[in-house]
Amino acid sequence: MRSLNVPLVLPFALLAALARLAESLGSRYPESFVARVADAVGGLTVGDRAVRLSRPLNVASESWTPASLRLPSAVALCVIVARRQPMLVLEFGAGYSTLLLAALSRERACRGFGIVSIEHDRSWCDTHRAKLKSLGFGVELVHAPLEAVDGAPRYRSAAVELALAGRAPDVVLVDGPVGSGHGGPGREGSLAQAVELAPRGALILVHDALRGEELRLLRSLLASGAVRGSGVVADGDGLAVLERV
Ligand SMILES: C[S@@+](CC[C@H](N)C(=O)[O-])C[C@H]1O[C@@H](n2cnc3c(N)ncnc32)[C@H](O)[C@@H]1O
Repeated sequence: MRSLNVPLVLPFALLAALARLAESLGSRYPESFVARVADAVGGLTVGDRAVRLSRPLNVASESWTPASLRLPSAVALCVIVARRQPMLVLEFGAGYSTLLLAALSRERACRGFGIVSIEHDRSWCDTHRAKLKSLGFGVELVHAPLEAVDGAPRYRSAAVELALAGRAPDVVLVDGPVGSGHGGPGREGSLAQAVELAPRGALILVHDALRGEELRLLRSLLASGAVRGSGVVADGDGLAVLERV
């Protein structure tokens, strides 16, 4: 597995600056911004809030909600996956990012990695299963209710283990469940679960990293020495890039 190096982090600063500029210009990103981002990430074509790969994926923009990855994080995810060439990506919290990962797994820049997406909300899960199916994407989208472990809700481990079937993820994206600051169950459990499931050297990407609860959890995780921080993509609430050690 390739190690995360400084050149990967540098484009994030550029992308964040471009995104801030674009956001100041309006809700839709201008074409010049699209072209510049595409240059920065080495050829992936990036649209407005929907990241368009070589084929348009309009359904992805329909799946976008204000809680979804925003453009800089979506682009960063593309860059990370294209560089890492993972065999398996595990996701906690399905939605726009699942469609994005599914589209990315078909890109020539990647090698057809597997995706296991875990979702606790039955109806959200069904909606996205139907979307993925209609697009012909073979994502394993698994419904796993939350169960409390040491007082922190995490995805039912039996369901997660069944879905992983002994495989270890190279990249784990933590974007669920809803944070406690937003009236949800919080991410203490899912973050701990991600750390347990990620083998040494795997990347753990944590969305909403700069929010109060998530930032506190991340500080404590970094202090524990279980992960090394590689940077935060500035997309409003932030996407932390961690490496399991
Ligand atoms: C922060 S959202 C992000 C999901 C996904 N990673 C994305 O990029 O869109 C996390 C969770 O919020 C819940 N959620 C988000 N939007 C929802 C909606 N409109 N209706 C029901 N649940 C929603 C889902 O349970 C989902 O797993």
